[in-house]
Amino acid sequence: MTVTRSVVLGCGSYLPSRILSNDDLARSVETTDEWIVQRTGIRERHIAAPGELTSDLALQAARAALANARLDPSAIDLIVLATSTPDQTFPATAVAVQAGLGMTHGAAFDLQAVCSGFIYALQVVDGLLRSGAYKRALVIGAETFSRILDWTDRTTCVLFGDGAGALVLEAQQQPGDRSDRGILTTHLRSDGRHRGKLYVDGGVSSTQTVGHLRMEGREVFKHAVAMITDVIDAAFKATGYTAADIDWFVPHQANKRIIDGSAHKLGIAPEKVVITVDRHGNTSAASIPLALFDAVADRRIKRGHLVLLEAMGGGFTWGSALLRW
Ligand code: ACO
Repeated sequence: MTVTRSVVLGCGSYLPSRILSNDDLARSVETTDEWIVQRTGIRERHIAAPGELTSDLALQAARAALANARLDPSAIDLIVLATSTPDQTFPATAVAVQAGLGMTHGAAFDLQAVCSGFIYALQVVDGLLRSGAYKRALVIGAETFSRILDWTDRTTCVLFGDGAGALVLEAQQQPGDRSDRGILTTHLRSDGRHRGKLYVDGGVSSTQTVGHLRMEGREVFKHAVAMITDVIDAAFKATGYTAADIDWFVPHQANKRIIDGSAHKLGIAPEKVVITVDRHGNTSAASIPLALFDAVADRRIKRGHLVLLEAMGGGFTWGSALLRW
C-alpha cells in the first residue's frame, strides 16, 4: 500500500561574507583560539553585515534550494521559517521571504523552537504535506544570533554565528516499504522547567527590549547527550532502523564535544558524522540545513541515503528526524 511522504527535492544555504575568527574575538574579549577550539571545536563563524537581516539570509537560502530543485517559486504553496531572531516582532519573517520570492499565493509563517527550530519545522511541514493541505514547501532555518549576543560576555559570544539553510519538500506517493524516500519519522520533546538555562533576557511582553542571550553552559552540556540520544532512540524504535543503517548523521552544530559524545553513545561511526561547527559556529535553527547543504554540495549525501537529524536547545526543546534522501 502506497503512503504519502515529504520528499526532499532540493537544498540550499547562505552564509554572510564576513568571517570572524577566534583570534579576531581574542582581540575584544579575554579568550584564546586554543580555549575555544578545545571546548567547542569552533574555529570561525560568519557574521551578517550591518543592515543584512534574517530574511535576507533566508531569501538567499530559499533561492538556492529552489534552484537546486529546479523549481520556480510558483511551485511552492507553503513557507515555514524557523528562527529566534526575526526581522521584526511581527509580521513573520517568512512573509518577507515570500514577498522576496515574488509569491502572492500560498501560506507563510514563522516557528520558534530555538536551536531545535528546524526539526520542529520539519515535523509541522511533514504533517501539513501528508494531510494533503499543501503540495510543496520551503522549510527554512535562518538566524542572525550576532544581534542578540552580549559581545562582552566571553562565555557566550564565542559560540554563535549567522546563516541560513533551506529544503524544498514535496508530498509524494511512496511504495510504503524500506525503499521509501522522504521523511520517515520525527520526534519532538520539550521541558519548560529548563527554560531559565538558555534564554534571552528581553522580550516584547517582559521588557519591551530585544535582550541578550544568557546561558548556563554547563547545565546545557549536562543534559544535551541524554536528550539527543532519547529522541534518536525513539526514531530507531519507530522505524526499526539502527545506528548501523545510517548513512549520514547531521546533528545540530552547537559543540563538537556534544556531537562526538552523542555519536559515540549511539554507536554511529565518526566518518558518518557531518561537522560544520568548526566553520559556522552555532547558527541555531540554521545549523542543520547548513550542514545538510555542505554534505550535499560535496556529494557525500546522495539520493537514497538514510540521513539522521537531531537538535537540542533553549526551552529545553529537542527532536530528531529520520529521512531517506
Ligand atoms: N575563553 C576563555 N575562558 C573562558 C571562556 C572563553 N571564551 N568562557 C568561559 N571561560 C572560562 C570560565 O570563566 C571558567 O573560568 P573559571 O574556572 O576561572 O571560572 C572556565 O573557562 C571554565 O568555564 P566552564 O563554563 O566550566 O567551561 P566548560 O568546560 O563548561 O565549557 C562551554 C563552556 C563551552 C560553554 C560548555 O559548557 C558547553 O559547551 N556547553 C554547552 C553549550 C552549548 O552548546 N549551548 C548551545 C546548545 S543549545 C543551542 O544550540 C542554543
